[in-house]
Amino acid sequence: MKSLDHLKMEITELFPDGTSINSKGHFEIGDVDLVDLANQYGTPLYIYDENTIKNICYEFIHSFRKYWKDTHILYAAKAFINKPLAQLMMSENLGLDIVSGGELAVAQSVQFPPSSIYFHGNNKSKDEISMALDYKIGRFVVDNFAEIELLTELCQKKNVVQDVLLRLSPGIDAHTHVKTTTGILDSKFGFSIVTGDAMDAVSSILKSKNLNLIGFHCHLGSPIFELEPYKLGIESMMEFISSTITMGVDFKEFSPGGGFAIRYLKTDKPPQVESYAKMIVETIVKECSKYDMSVPKIVIESGRAIVGRAGVALYRVGSTKDIPNVRKYVSLDGGMGDNIRPSLYGSKYQPYLVNRVAESDSEKVTLSGKFCESGDILVEEAVLPQLHEGDLIALPASGAYSPAMASNYNLNPKPPIVLITKNGTSKLIRKGETYEDLMSFDVL
Ligand code: LLP
Repeated sequence: MKSLDHLKMEITELFPDGTSINSKGHFEIGDVDLVDLANQYGTPLYIYDENTIKNICYEFIHSFRKYWKDTHILYAAKAFINKPLAQLMMSENLGLDIVSGGELAVAQSVQFPPSSIYFHGNNKSKDEISMALDYKIGRFVVDNFAEIELLTELCQKKNVVQDVLLRLSPGIDAHTHVKTTTGILDSKFGFSIVTGDAMDAVSSILKSKNLNLIGFHCHLGSPIFELEPYKLGIESMMEFISSTITMGVDFKEFSPGGGFAIRYLKTDKPPQVESYAKMIVETIVKECSKYDMSVPKIVIESGRAIVGRAGVALYRVGSTKDIPNVRKYVSLDGGMGDNIRPSLYGSKYQPYLVNRVAESDSEKVTLSGKFCESGDILVEEAVLPQLHEGDLIALPASGAYSPAMASNYNLNPKPPIVLITKNGTSKLIRKGETYEDLMSFDVL
């Protein structure tokens, strides 16, 4: 048997707040037994905990405002958004970072306050820009020269003046996975400072009567486990920004993006939100004073750190294949269709047996998915108790970028999503897809 005290400590850092072990030896979150949820809704199942999301939103707001009052926290919708989530972020007073017409449509559907919507992206379409202008969103984060032209043209047509931030590429490596690194020179995002593009972009926006340049943004990558890249990125940006003030830029907003890391494995050691806040704000304040600029409003965009730990994926064990002296595969009923991250980035997760929590770990297995691809492995070399068909496996820290990046590969329906609400009950916030749904766009 495992030491329950030890296990309880371990799970508080990986699972949602209020996760515990009940008298049946099952995991529960806020008094809701995960075995019951799996039986009720089927598996794979994604579970989010409302309380945890609220606590993390509060932590972000207060950690940053402790150091700088004029801070606005945005939720980066790409980590996962649907109508209930958008409503929740709105009720927690977060703004929204969107990157597509789809995310904007969700925001519109719940009447998300347009003034706190920031529109990012390196190839916003004419339709998307029009839609966002019509909804009167607060800021466009302008990414490239073509966008400056297109946005100016559409603003002229609609006779509006739009506030914009300029996305800078400061040339800083945040040591994230190569596929999620964005702040370096060789990136499709933003205007590079060193090539002179950023300066040209400032001149060009200042000339546009329909664009009002009010500040600057960058996003270095994700997840960033170090504090230093933020410091270096901000220093590089502030030096550049100081040289734009004499050109007539009214520097009112600054956003160092998102990228705050979370714990996926027991051994991960992400900085506390408070440590990111301290480093970011102190660097901004120091740099502003160095260049004799007033400290602007600070805008933070976090996705992963807000919903990551709040979400748990539940799978049921199916078939097993034991290859002596090579590997034992234990197949789960989900995989790369609901969580592409291990196959795409080599991301690691810490699996837990849900229905016999206290049982000692006794074997090393590879948890494979059910998709028709050898690379569909959710966890390589997991150490777990002996697994049997029907057992339930939880992957904690699954709230960000799993349902958001889900696909219908092999025509598997996307799983349902359940929210555990404050009073310890659960409600469906996204139905599981049916085969009918999968065929509903086919035209015979
Ligand atoms: N702001 C901008 C401009 C971004 O591009 C992103 C993420 C964020 C904010 C939010 O980053 P976060 O706080 O969630 O780390 N699919 C990858 C992550 C890609 C992130 C893309 N941009 C993954 O599953 O790890």
